Amino acid sequence: MSAELVARPRRLRSSSAIREMLREVVLRPSDFMYPLFVVPGSGVKKPIDALEGQFHLSADEAAKMAADVFALGVKSIILFGLPAEKDPAGASGADPHGPVQSAIRAIKKAVPEMVVATDVCLCEYTDHGHCGILDGQTVDNDATLPHLARQALSHAQAGADMIAPSDMMDGRVGAIRSLLDQEGFSHIPIMAYSVKYAGAFYGPFRDAAGSAPQFGDRRSYQMDPARRREALIEVDLDIAEGADIVMVKPAGPYLDIIRDVREHCDMPLAAYQVSGEYAMIMAAARAGLMDEKAGALESLLSIKRAGADIIITYMAPKAAKWLRECS
Ligand code: PBG
Repeated sequence: MSAELVARPRRLRSSSAIREMLREVVLRPSDFMYPLFVVPGSGVKKPIDALEGQFHLSADEAAKMAADVFALGVKSIILFGLPAEKDPAGASGADPHGPVQSAIRAIKKAVPEMVVATDVCLCEYTDHGHCGILDGQTVDNDATLPHLARQALSHAQAGADMIAPSDMMDGRVGAIRSLLDQEGFSHIPIMAYSVKYAGAFYGPFRDAAGSAPQFGDRRSYQMDPARRREALIEVDLDIAEGADIVMVKPAGPYLDIIRDVREHCDMPLAAYQVSGEYAMIMAAARAGLMDEKAGALESLLSIKRAGADIIITYMAPKAAKWLRECS
């Protein structure tokens, strides 16, 4: 081949300005949703060993944290609760004075513009740690639905802006939608954890949330990582049941699935960079094996490039700061 016919993509990589001009994907602080772990009491801000840089927060401290991250441009959070009490049916999840419900009120008072989403699941509230009601050793799908719907309703009544069921029971989006509608909350959107794979990447979260199953695992309700096409089945079911936003979780190891869902439908799409993904990046950075900022931003960019509109990430405040410094 003669020299003048050689393709030279490097021409467009020659300066920072030209590279920036050609970027197709740009991260913004408002792409991020920040998870907070809320606990009973007041004045509590306790570092979580399993998730470095994250805290257990009482409602008042959660409100302060929300104000801080909002100032950085992170405009949505998702709440996870650690209740004072657990029982086989996870009743404390629907307590109007539970940690999530109290944090919603405190945050909406302090930062009314913050989009406050809530994770809806039973695993943090059941003494056995499974995401639903048990029948012997198995999780009873249909018996679980009213409990999830009641928990979701209690969040809406406390002032939540968005409900995010993560339990993986069949039919839960429809059950939650109909109770919300019936009780006057037809305006509250549902962000469904539609595509949630079972696996190892939730380890640090289960420590942080005290939600590890006391026996067995979650493979009879969360998805098998070796099945790709089932993601689209789950997405279609959740859309049919009334989901407003669909989600893929985990994010980084499942970029192919994010892309599949993006090409399959036009729904707003969230992706959850879960605790294990966060832990890997933080551990590599701490060991001096990877630059934390560069690694973190690249992981987030890749999730957005795969097709996610919203990225749920423990990096949200840090990433927002870094993006501001860069621009
Ligand atoms: C609750 C729930 C989990 C996560 C989000 N919601 C844990 C699980 O399914 O065991 C995981 C989030 C993370 O790992 O960061 N069911």
